[in-house]
Amino acid sequence: MKNLFVLGSTGSIGRQTLEIVKENPGEFSVVSLACGSNIELLIEQIKTFKPKVVAVESEADHLKLHELFPELIIGHGNQGLVKAATYGPNSPEPLVVNALVGILGLIPTIHAIEAGRNVALANKESLVAGGNIIKRLLSEEKTKLFPIDSEHSGLWQLLQGEDPKSVQKVYLTASGGSFRHYERSELVHVTKEEALRHPNWEMGAKITVDSATMMNKGFEIIEAMHLFDLPLEKVETILHEESLVHAMVEFADGSIKAQLSSHDMRLPISYALFYPERRPTPVPRLDFASLGKIGFAKLDHERYPLMKVVLRAIRTGGSAPCAVNAANEAAVNLFLQGKIGFLDIEILVSDALDHHLPIQNPGIADILNTDKNIKQSIYDRYLDKQGDRP
Ligand SMILES: NC(=O)c1ccc[n+]([C@@H]2O[C@H](COP(=O)([O-])OP(=O)(O)OC[C@H]3O[C@@H](n4cnc5c(N)ncnc54)[C@H](OP(=O)(O)O)[C@@H]3O)[C@@H](O)[C@H]2O)c1
Repeated sequence: MKNLFVLGSTGSIGRQTLEIVKENPGEFSVVSLACGSNIELLIEQIKTFKPKVVAVESEADHLKLHELFPELIIGHGNQGLVKAATYGPNSPEPLVVNALVGILGLIPTIHAIEAGRNVALANKESLVAGGNIIKRLLSEEKTKLFPIDSEHSGLWQLLQGEDPKSVQKVYLTASGGSFRHYERSELVHVTKEEALRHPNWEMGAKITVDSATMMNKGFEIIEAMHLFDLPLEKVETILHEESLVHAMVEFADGSIKAQLSSHDMRLPISYALFYPERRPTPVPRLDFASLGKIGFAKLDHERYPLMKVVLRAIRTGGSAPCAVNAANEAAVNLFLQGKIGFLDIEILVSDALDHHLPIQNPGIADILNTDKNIKQSIYDRYLDKQGDRP
C-alpha cells in the first residue's frame, strides 16, 4: 500500500491517475487531493477517495468545502498545495503525483522532495523553470523523480540496466500538434478551438497549445537533460505523426532501443505509480500487422521557430529557461482568452528572451521573481482587468 498525494487531481493526468487507483483496490490510499477551481469534480473525488487533506485555489472554495466536509483538512493557494504535498508521516511509502500545470508546480515539488518524498512528475514547467534547484535538492535528499511525460517515461524504461556512459543519443518524438499539416501562412487566423483539437492526445488546454507551437517539445528537451543528466548535444527531437514510438536511445555500439505503445497516458502514469513493477493496464495493445507504415521526419525549426528560442535559452542557461516558460505561460493564457493570435505566442516568447538579463545559478526567489516580472509585463500590455490574470 502506497500513500498517494495527487496535485492537479481534476486535470487530465490527475483524473487518469485516480482511474488507475480505482482499478487497483488495496494498492493506494489517497491522502490528499489538490486542484484549482473544478470544485464539482473535486467533491465527487472526495466522496470516492476519502482523502484527509484537500487544497483548492481560492479561499471562497475553501470555505464552501469546509461547510460540506467539516472533518477535512483544507487549504488554499500555494500553502494549500504545499500542505497537500507534505501532509503526514512518510509511512506507508508516500508518492506525490504532481499533475499541476505551470510553474505553480515548482514549490510543491520542492517541498515534497524536502519532505523526503519521491515525486511522480507530469508538471514539466517546474523542471524547465527550476530544474537546477530541483536537481540539487534531489541529490541532498536522496529522493527521486519518476517521469510521467510519455517520452521521458519511455527513456526511463529504455535506460533501465544500461550504463549511462554508453548512451550516444536519445530521441524524443513529436506528433507535430494540431496544425502539423498547415503552412506557416495558414497559422495567422487559426482559432483556440482548432488549436485544442490535438490529432493524437486528449490533454489539458495549455499542453495542447504548447504541442501546436512545439514549445512542448522544447520544454521536453530541458526535462530530459535534467532527468537523465544529458548534455544538449545528446538530445534529439524527431517528428513522428503516429505517436506510437515515444522515445529511442542510441548506444555506443550503434544499437537503438525504442519504446512503443498506444498513445495513452495511463501507461506512463501506471509505470510511475507501480515502479519498479509493471502492472496490467487497459491500454490498447499495438497490432503491428494492421499498423502498416509508421514514419519519421526532420523537425523543421523554421516551421516551429520556438524550437530555436528554447535552444537559445538552454545555451544561455541560468534563468533564461524560466523566462521563456513565464512568457509562454502568459502568452498561451492570452491566446486561450482570445486576446492574441496563435503566432503572437512565438513573438512574445522570443521577445521576452531577447529582453531578459539572465541570472546565473538562480535561487528560488530569482526564479519566482523572473516568472512574476515577465508575466506582469506581458499581461500589462494586453489585460485591463486584474481578474483575467491567473
Ligand atoms: N495531459 C497529458 O496527457 C500530459 C502529458 C504529458 C505531460 N503533461 C503535463 O502534466 C501537467 C498537467 O497537464 P494536464 O494536461 O493534466 O493539465 P490540465 O488538464 O489543465 O490540469 C491541470 C490541473 O492543475 C490544476 N490547477 C490549475 N491551476 C491551479 C491553481 N491555481 N491551484 C491549484 N491547482 C490548479 C487544475 O485544477 P482545475 O481544473 O480544478 O482548475 C487541474 O487539476 C502539465 O505540466 C503538462 O505539461 C500532461
